[in-house]
Amino acid sequence: MGAAAELRKISRYGVIGQPVAHSLSPRIHALFAKAFGIDLSYEAIEIAPADLAARLQQLHADGYSGINVTLPHKAVVAALCEGVSERAQIAGAVNCLKRTDSGWIGDNTDGEGLVRDLARLGIAVAGQRVLLLGAGGAARGAIDPLLALHPKELVVSSRNPWKPEALAEQFKGRGPLRPCTHLALKGDHYDLIINATSAGHAGGMPRLPGPLLVEGGSCYDLSYGKAHAPFAAWAQQQSAAKTDDGLGMLVEQAAVSFEIWLGKSPDVEAVLAALRTR
Ligand code: ATR
Repeated sequence: MGAAAELRKISRYGVIGQPVAHSLSPRIHALFAKAFGIDLSYEAIEIAPADLAARLQQLHADGYSGINVTLPHKAVVAALCEGVSERAQIAGAVNCLKRTDSGWIGDNTDGEGLVRDLARLGIAVAGQRVLLLGAGGAARGAIDPLLALHPKELVVSSRNPWKPEALAEQFKGRGPLRPCTHLALKGDHYDLIINATSAGHAGGMPRLPGPLLVEGGSCYDLSYGKAHAPFAAWAQQQSAAKTDDGLGMLVEQAAVSFEIWLGKSPDVEAVLAALRTR
């Protein structure tokens, strides 16, 4: 390639997943780049699990500078990285790949995205009683970042008693984490309730006992869009003083990826406003 063509070469980024066509990441990163006047491409790239290793090598050979990773690859992609950050190891998930000369370094920006979004919204965690609903991958990724904010107590609950139990075992010694079943929450009251279940994607909510939120308490959902509706309705029943969806976290985690790749901090509020007026 000649020098002129090299100069015109656009940095390539993308998000890999299956399905991935619905992803808002291409739009978010296009808005970030536009605000900085940076010329880059960011595509949604559908990859089947069986093809992941070969396609990642190909993306590297094709010169991609950074990749976001979404379902179903977040847990397995770590084994295909040259190195993985400590926070991604703890979360058990990689959602951001940064190129090296010979491969990819895996990181996780979801936890930092959650923490930044809670701060942006003025939702306190320090000294608060916090309930995390769900005990899958999304909940696992949220636990260490939440414990780092020093809640009075963090309760993780799900229908299945063994999943929260396993998480409590895994995060032993990292903070005041208590496993629970939804049913055993009866009579408890929390300052902040975070929904990390995937029930909203099927239009539902876990069955929960009685009132669980203190007066003036907040509800926060890791889901957004249609998947947020069932939790929003439940939060209203709980008379939540404040209920937020996970769109802010999505934009915040994207901003952390952008910083890792390009060393620039995007204006999250502006991009969030653009997405909400869509
Ligand atoms: P992810 O890995 O994205 O977090 P997941 O593991 O499929 O998604 O689901 C996360 C949580 O949502 C699980 O803990 C699951 O609850 P149980 O542990 O109680 O099974 C919860 N979940 C999913 N669908 C649900 C539903 N229809 N009702 C209640 N809880 C549900």
